[in-house]
Amino acid sequence: MTASPTQRKVRKAVIPAAGLGTRFLPATKAIPKEMLPIVDIPTIQLVIDEAVRAGVTDVVVINGRNKHAIEDHFDHAWELERTLRDRGKVEEADAVTAVSTMVRLISVRQKQPLGLGHAVLCAREAIGEESFAVLLGDDLIDNDADPGIGQLIRVHEQTGAGAVAIVEVPPGKEHMYGIVAGERDATGHLRITDMIEKPKAGTAPSRWAIVGRYVLPPAIWNHLATTKPGAGGEIQLTDALHKLIGSKEGLYGVEVAGTRHDAGDKLGYLRANLSYALKRPELRDAVRALCRELAE
Ligand code: G1P
Repeated sequence: MTASPTQRKVRKAVIPAAGLGTRFLPATKAIPKEMLPIVDIPTIQLVIDEAVRAGVTDVVVINGRNKHAIEDHFDHAWELERTLRDRGKVEEADAVTAVSTMVRLISVRQKQPLGLGHAVLCAREAIGEESFAVLLGDDLIDNDADPGIGQLIRVHEQTGAGAVAIVEVPPGKEHMYGIVAGERDATGHLRITDMIEKPKAGTAPSRWAIVGRYVLPPAIWNHLATTKPGAGGEIQLTDALHKLIGSKEGLYGVEVAGTRHDAGDKLGYLRANLSYALKRPELRDAVRALCRELAE
């Protein structure tokens, strides 16, 4: 059965955070890469904030090692909060308290690094038979007015189909992404007819790349459970999504409005830091001057 309108309501999100963070070693030796800050906010907090603004109340974080930093970050830090208040640092104390009340966080351990599809499948019991969002911490979508994942949630709630965020990537970059192909239908979105994870050079069916935002119907659970290892020997989310194509749910690619940053890459991470810093009134002018000074 297709998900009923109640099952389609998206209240829960999965954030896979079990990667080794190899691209940011040694910074990620003792903390997960999701805790690396963009200015002064951990990337995972920005991602969770996007989900919360889109109506998500429960977040399932799939953890590997070093999970405590994430759990602690979204929990109360009574001593810190009290000490800040005792010292009259009200603004800082409020910021710390606000993080601990943002969301209900469930932590699930991925015991083996078997791939993104497997990581999402680890959330099955915690999510149950309802539609849910998946947000990858490497991708930041900056949109204050209309959170990226909320744009996908709208498409899902209207159609019952799965929805993935897509961007057109420059020629030659297709091998770094899951690539989709399809046709626009009356919704204005791409009804996906084909998809492939990390296609070899010259074999991509288009330049439409999946960026790390998904809204999935509960039918995905059985597809994930039966997906065999694919690209890189890993159980790929893209391969499970492929099974939605032509099913009664179907799958849409949605060009999400917002500024996208690939914070999983060193240059992308630095760009994200500068971009978010330039949005802060107290930092903007100083950061501009700094960029000019360093560029000389
Ligand atoms: C993952 C997905 C891929 C997607 C990408 C977006 O790959 O498997 O389909 O295009 O995220 O960031 P990863 O970057 O984890 O290798």
